Amino acid sequence: MTAVDPSSARGSTEYLLLLRRRREVAGLSYRQLDRRARQCGEVLPPSTVATMLRRTTLPAVDLLTTFVRACGGDDAEVAAWLAARARITAPDPDPGARAATGPCLPVPPRQLPPGPAELVGRDRELAELDEATGGRERGLVLVTGGPGTGKTALAVHWAHGSAGRFPDGQLYVDLRGHGPGEPVSVGVALAHLLVGLGVPASAVPSRDEQAAALFRSVVADRRIVLVLDGAASADQVRLLRPGGRASCTVVTSRDRLVGLTVHDGGRSVGVGALERGHAVRVLARSAGERLVAQESGAAGTLADLCDGLPLALRIAAGALDRDARTPIADLVAEMRVDGRLAALGVLDDPRARLDVSFGYSYDALGDVERRVFHLLAFSGDLSASVVAVTADLAPGAARSALRRLSDAHLVARRAGDRYAVPGLLREYARTLATPDRISRTATDAA
Ligand SMILES: Nc1ncnc2c1ncn2[C@@H]1O[C@H](COP(=O)(O)OP(=O)(O)OP(=O)(O)O)[C@@H](O)[C@H]1O
Ligand SMILES: [Mg+2]
Repeated sequence: MTAVDPSSARGSTEYLLLLRRRREVAGLSYRQLDRRARQCGEVLPPSTVATMLRRTTLPAVDLLTTFVRACGGDDAEVAAWLAARARITAPDPDPGARAATGPCLPVPPRQLPPGPAELVGRDRELAELDEATGGRERGLVLVTGGPGTGKTALAVHWAHGSAGRFPDGQLYVDLRGHGPGEPVSVGVALAHLLVGLGVPASAVPSRDEQAAALFRSVVADRRIVLVLDGAASADQVRLLRPGGRASCTVVTSRDRLVGLTVHDGGRSVGVGALERGHAVRVLARSAGERLVAQESGAAGTLADLCDGLPLALRIAAGALDRDARTPIADLVAEMRVDGRLAALGVLDDPRARLDVSFGYSYDALGDVERRVFHLLAFSGDLSASVVAVTADLAPGAARSALRRLSDAHLVARRAGDRYAVPGLLREYARTLATPDRISRTATDAA
C-alpha cells in the first residue's frame, strides 16, 4: 500500500485531495502519467487529468483505474481506491443527520489549552482584544510583551471567552518561537491546523504554499479563531493566516513583530507588568488566600520584588516554604540577601525558572545586541549616543541594536531617548559571563 490511504476519505472533496496527493507522492508530471498509461495501452491526456483533479466530483471508474495504475498503483491499490469511491457514492442512510453536521468538519475543532483559573487585572487588554476583533473584518491581533508577562494566558483566556463568536472552532498552535529547540516550521504548523480541521494527514500537501492554500480554502468562510502562540518572527505566521473575513487570528510573541503591523494590518495589544494589587491577587490565587491574608504586608513586598511579572509571581508562590511560620516574609528576606533570581531559582522544573525563560530571549540575540544588553545592564540608563561610544559602535549600529532589543522587550525606552534593561532582566544579565571590557567601561559610564 502507498503512503496515501483512500479509505480515510469521508467525502468527494477529501477523496480528490487524496488523489492529488497520490500524484505528488508518485512525483510524476501529467505528461509522464500519460506516457506511462500509453505503455499499458491506455490514454491519459494531461488536460483530462488536470480537469479530474480540479473538480470536486468523483472521477469515472475507468479514468480512476488508469490514473492510479499510471501513478504506480498495483491491483490491491486500485481496488482500495475503487472501494473508497463506492463507499462515498453509496446512498446516504440518514441524509438529515449528515446535513446537520456538514461535510469535512463533523466536530468543530476546540484546540485551546486551559487558561489560568482566574485571569487577574487584564480588563484593558481584554477590551482591546474585543475592540480589535469586533468589526466586520476580524483580522489580526498581536499580543506582545516581555518574557513571562502573561501573553499566552491573555490570548487563551480571551479566545475561550469569545468562543460564542467563533462557532466554527478555535484553533491553537504552540509555535515555540522562544523556547527549547527550534521554532515550529511553517509546514508542521499547517499540517497541525489542517488535520485539526479534518483533512487526513496523508492529504496534506508537502509544499508550504500548497498547504497554506488548502488551509485557506478549508477555513474560507468559517467563523474561527486561530491562536498562534509564541511566534518567533513575522515570517513564521504569514502563511498560517486564514484569508476570510469571518475569522480572526491572535498571535502572541515576545517580539513586537513590527512587520505584521506594517504590512499585514495587525493591531498590537501590549502586555506588561501587573500593578501591585493585581500582583498580590495572583500570589493569593497561587499560594492560597489565607496565607497571603496572614502576611499581607510581606505579600505586597514580594509582589514588588517580582516586578509584577506573572511568571515570577507564580514561581515565587511555588518557592514558598510552607512549613515555615512566615513563608512569605522568609522568601522576601532570601530575595534581599541572595538576590531575587537566585532565591526564585530553587524549583527543578525548567518552566519554573526565570533564568531559563529569559535565556530563550537572550540566546536569540546577535553579538552586537548582546554587547549593548550587557552594557545597559551594568550601567543603568544611557542615551543612544553614549551607548554607541561606550560599546564602540557607529551611531546607526547602536540605534538599530537598541531598536531590536526594545522590539524584543529586553530593553525599555525611557524619556529623553534613554534606554535601560528593566528589573529582573537586569539582574539576569548580571549573572551572565560578561566580556571584561564591557563590564569595566560600563562601570565607568555609570
Ligand atoms: N493575568 C494573569 N492572571 C493570573 N495568572 C496569570 C496571568 N498572566 C499570566 N499568568 C500566569 O503566569 C504564568 C506565565 O504566563 P504566560 O505563560 O501566559 O506568559 P507568557 O508571556 O506567555 O510567557 P512567554 O514569554 O514565555 O511566552 C502562567 O502560569 C500563567 O498562567
Ligand atoms: Mg507564552
